[in-house]
Amino acid sequence: MDNSNRLMFAVVMVIAYMAMGAQTQNSTTAPNVTMAANVTTTGPNITTNLSTTRSPGVNITINGTMAPNTTMSPPAVVPVVNTTVTALTVNISRTECGNSQLCAAQPKNCDPALPGSCFFVSTQQSSGQTFSFQLRGVSSGYIAVGLSTNLTLDGNATIYVCANNNNNVKFFTALLDKGNLTINNALPVDSVKGSVNGQIIQCTFSATVPKATATRSIDTSFYLSISNGTFMNGILGDPNIVMLSNIAVDLSNSKTTVINSLNSNTTPSHAFGLQHTLSQALLILLGVVGLMML
Ligand SMILES: *[C@@H]1O[C@H](CO)[C@@H](O)[C@H](O)[C@H]1NC(C)=O
Ligand SMILES: *[C@@H]1O[C@H](CO)[C@@H](O)[C@H](O)[C@H]1NC(C)=O
Ligand SMILES: *[C@@H]1O[C@H](CO)[C@@H](O)[C@H](O)[C@H]1NC(C)=O
Ligand SMILES: *[C@@H]1O[C@H](CO)[C@@H](O)[C@H](O)[C@H]1NC(C)=O
Ligand SMILES: *[C@@H]1O[C@H](CO)[C@@H](O)[C@H](O)[C@H]1NC(C)=O
Ligand SMILES: *[C@@H]1O[C@H](CO)[C@@H](O)[C@H](O)[C@H]1NC(C)=O
Ligand SMILES: *[C@@H]1O[C@H](CO)[C@@H](O)[C@H](O)[C@H]1NC(C)=O
Ligand SMILES: *[C@@H]1O[C@H](CO)[C@@H](O)[C@H](O)[C@H]1NC(C)=O
Ligand SMILES: *[C@@H]1O[C@H](CO)[C@@H](O)[C@H](O)[C@H]1NC(C)=O
Ligand SMILES: *[C@@H]1O[C@H](CO)[C@@H](O)[C@H](O)[C@H]1NC(C)=O
Ligand SMILES: *[C@@H]1O[C@H](CO)[C@@H](O)[C@H](O)[C@H]1NC(C)=O
Ligand SMILES: *[C@@H]1O[C@H](CO)[C@@H](O)[C@H](O)[C@H]1NC(C)=O
Repeated sequence: MDNSNRLMFAVVMVIAYMAMGAQTQNSTTAPNVTMAANVTTTGPNITTNLSTTRSPGVNITINGTMAPNTTMSPPAVVPVVNTTVTALTVNISRTECGNSQLCAAQPKNCDPALPGSCFFVSTQQSSGQTFSFQLRGVSSGYIAVGLSTNLTLDGNATIYVCANNNNNVKFFTALLDKGNLTINNALPVDSVKGSVNGQIIQCTFSATVPKATATRSIDTSFYLSISNGTFMNGILGDPNIVMLSNIAVDLSNSKTTVINSLNSNTTPSHAFGLQHTLSQALLILLGVVGLMML
C-alpha cells in the first residue's frame, strides 16, 4: 500500500470506528470529531492506532461503498405535538401567582378556584421557550389563551384553544390573523388536561412557544390574551377577547402584574390625560385655598 492508499484506509477506518461507536454507545461516548483532524497530518500512524480498536468481537468489514453519510448528522429535534386530552381532576388556583407562576385574570385578581365568572391564565417556565399553562374561563363554547407580538393581534398570533365538546375538553392550536381563527394543530404542545363543569372550562398543557422576535431582547415576551367564543359542529366562532395585556409581558417573569388593556372605557392615553388634568385642577384649587388661609 502506498501512502495515499493508507490514508484512505485510515479515513475509512476512522469513519467506521466512529459509526460503530455511535451505534453501540448511543453516541454519548462517541469519540470526538477533532480526531479526524489528525488523520491528514499523521496519516500512517493512525492505522496502527486504530488497529488496536477496543471493540473485540465486532468485525469491521471495510467496503468501498461505505459512505460517511450514515450516522454523522446530529439527530433532528422533532417537536412533540400531542393534543390528546386527559381528565383534569383539580381546580386551577392562584396559589402560585407571583411565586412560580405569572398570572393574568379578568376581573382583576379573581379566584379561578371559586365558581363564577373568572377568566384566568397562568404560565410557568419549564425551560427556554417551554411553559406550562393553566387556563380557566367561562363559555358555552371555547376559551383560549393567545400570544401575540402585536397589540392589534394581527400577524398570526399563537392561540391555544380548549373547547367544550359534549362536556369533554377538545384541544386545538390555532393562528389568529386579522380576526380570523385558523386551526392548525401543529404547534408543539403536550400533556393536555381538561375539565368542563357547566360553562366553566379548565385546561392545563405544556407548550413550546415561538420566539417573540418582534420584542427583540426577550424571546418570551408577548401580548397575553384570554378570549372565548362559540364551538358548534366542530367550528370555532370568532374570538371575543376578554383580557389583553396592555404591554408585552415576559411569560417567564412571575413577578409581573398583568394589566388588562380592555378594562378602561376610553383609550389608555386619553384616560391618563383626563386624570392628569383633574389632578392638576385639584392642585391649583388646593394652592388657592392655601393662599387664602395665609
Ligand atoms: C442506549 O442504547 C440501549 C440499547 O439500544 C438503550 O437500552 C439505552 O436506553 C440507550 N441509552 C441512552 C442514554 O440512550
Ligand atoms: C470535543 O470537542 C469539543 C470541541 O472541540 C470540546 O469542547 C470537547 O471538550 C471535546 N470533548 C471531549 C470528550 O474531548
Ligand atoms: C491530534 O491533534 C491534536 C490537536 O491537533 C493534538 O492535541 C493531539 O495530540 C493529536 N493526537 C495524536 C494522537 O496525534
Ligand atoms: C509515528 O508516531 C511516532 C510517535 O508519535 C513517531 O515517532 C513516528 O515518526 C511516527 N511514524 C510515522 C511514519 O509518522
Ligand atoms: C469475525 O470474523 C471471524 C472470522 O471471519 C468470525 O469467526 C467471527 O465470528 C466474527 N465475529 C463476529 C462478531 O462477527
Ligand atoms: C461491498 O458491498 C457490496 C454491497 O453491500 C457488496 O455487494 C460487495 O460484495 C462488497 N465488496 C466487498 C469487497 O466486500
Ligand atoms: C446520504 O444522505 C442523503 C441525505 O441525507 C441521502 O439522501 C442519501 O440517500 C444518503 N446516501 C447514503 C448512501 O446513505
Ligand atoms: C364569553 O364570556 C362573556 C363574558 O363572560 C359571556 O358574556 C359570553 O356569553 C361568553 N361567550 C360564550 C360563547 O359563552
Ligand atoms: C402591528 O400591526 C399593525 C397592523 O398590521 C402594524 O401597522 C404595526 O406596525 C404592528 N406593530 C408591530 C410592533 O409589529
Ligand atoms: C399568517 O399565516 C398565513 C399562512 O401561513 C400567511 O399566508 C400570512 O401571510 C400570515 N400573516 C402574517 C401577517 O404573517
Ligand atoms: C377572514 O374570514 C373571512 C370570512 O371567512 C374572509 O372573508 C376574510 O378574507 C378572512 N380574512 C383573512 C385575513 O383571511
Ligand atoms: C399523548 O398523550 C396521551 C396523554 O397524555 C398519552 O396517553 C399518549 O401516549 C400520548 N401519545 C403519544 C403518541 O405520545
